[in-house]
Amino acid sequence: MKALVYDAYGPPESLRFEEVERPVPRGDEVLVKVRAVGLNASDWETLTGRPLYARVGGPRRPRHRTLGSDIAGVVEAIGPAVTTVAVGDEVFGDNLDKMGGFAEYAIARERVLALKPPGLSFAQAATLPQPGVIALQGIRTKGAVRRGQRVLINGAGGGTGAYAIQLAKLDGAEVTAVDNAEKQDFMRSAGADQVVDFTRTDFTRAGDRYDLVLDLAGHHSVLSHRRALSAGGRYLWVGGSVGTMLQVLVAGPLVGRQRILVVRPNTTDLLTMASLCVSGALTTHIDREYALAEVPAALRHLGDGHALGKVIISLT
Ligand SMILES: NC(=O)c1ccc[n+]([C@@H]2O[C@H](COP(=O)([O-])OP(=O)(O)OC[C@H]3O[C@@H](n4cnc5c(N)ncnc54)[C@H](OP(=O)(O)O)[C@@H]3O)[C@@H](O)[C@H]2O)c1
Repeated sequence: MKALVYDAYGPPESLRFEEVERPVPRGDEVLVKVRAVGLNASDWETLTGRPLYARVGGPRRPRHRTLGSDIAGVVEAIGPAVTTVAVGDEVFGDNLDKMGGFAEYAIARERVLALKPPGLSFAQAATLPQPGVIALQGIRTKGAVRRGQRVLINGAGGGTGAYAIQLAKLDGAEVTAVDNAEKQDFMRSAGADQVVDFTRTDFTRAGDRYDLVLDLAGHHSVLSHRRALSAGGRYLWVGGSVGTMLQVLVAGPLVGRQRILVVRPNTTDLLTMASLCVSGALTTHIDREYALAEVPAALRHLGDGHALGKVIISLT
């Protein structure tokens, strides 16, 4: 089968096509014929090896030769211990543990896969695994947002942000979305009440206070976060600089109500998000679809900050 591989951290152009042996599922493994893959910031980070936390499990060389975690496709074969899916089932899931989505076939553990609702296309399903579950856990699971509360989402113009804005609006919050100038209209179209261009305005110095700051691109200090929180307000760091992550980890609980959101991928949350999409309560935002051979260009589009919503790789 064809797979995009790499052996050293580097730019997207270092990926190359290779003919590799099609894997055989063992134990609880499932072989999925890949139909769509959603690109995430984590693909870019694991490709380039930056920030340094992206090298966990592979300090010098990448842990996986083929990237691509958020897969949607059709079950081609199953290992002997698999009980929840069968050959021919349409499935989707977050395959962060094994990756391998940038290929014609990928191996995934049974527990990371859910049955794809017929109401979602493969491309739509591939927008959900990582971003949908981060958004759900950020807005709902870790202390639900209440009607009328003020929520700020930093880095809201990406794949996760589009879902987080919509969920917060669905739950009755007033939403402020922060990202670069190119993404302001997109964030409004996803439902944000106010938008902020971080290249012009620092939200921690603008004088506004929020009940929840969900930070997908955290680069400020814990003291800066405190300036932006209302009495009883909470700050959740999801992604961004290692410096901010460490500060929040060590000083967040001391300064008060600031912590790291460690996202736990699971199919229950994934299916909750999928059913919200099928019902029309949430909209999937697909920026562009690329072919498998175009993964380097797709990653470049994402990594250079041009993506509005999700970038999807579609295979026939
Ligand atoms: N905590 C966990 O367990 C966990 C698990 C999985 C993933 N993550 C993290 O979750 C984050 C969200 O992922 P995603 O897929 O939604 O990423 P994404 O699609 O790249 O979106 C992030 C957005 O933040 C913007 N941004 C960059 N720097 C910014 C700044 N200084 N201020 C405000 N916005 C800024 C980006 O703009 P540009 O495109 O212009 O850069 C982009 O629009 C990633 O950092 C990922 O590593 C965390």
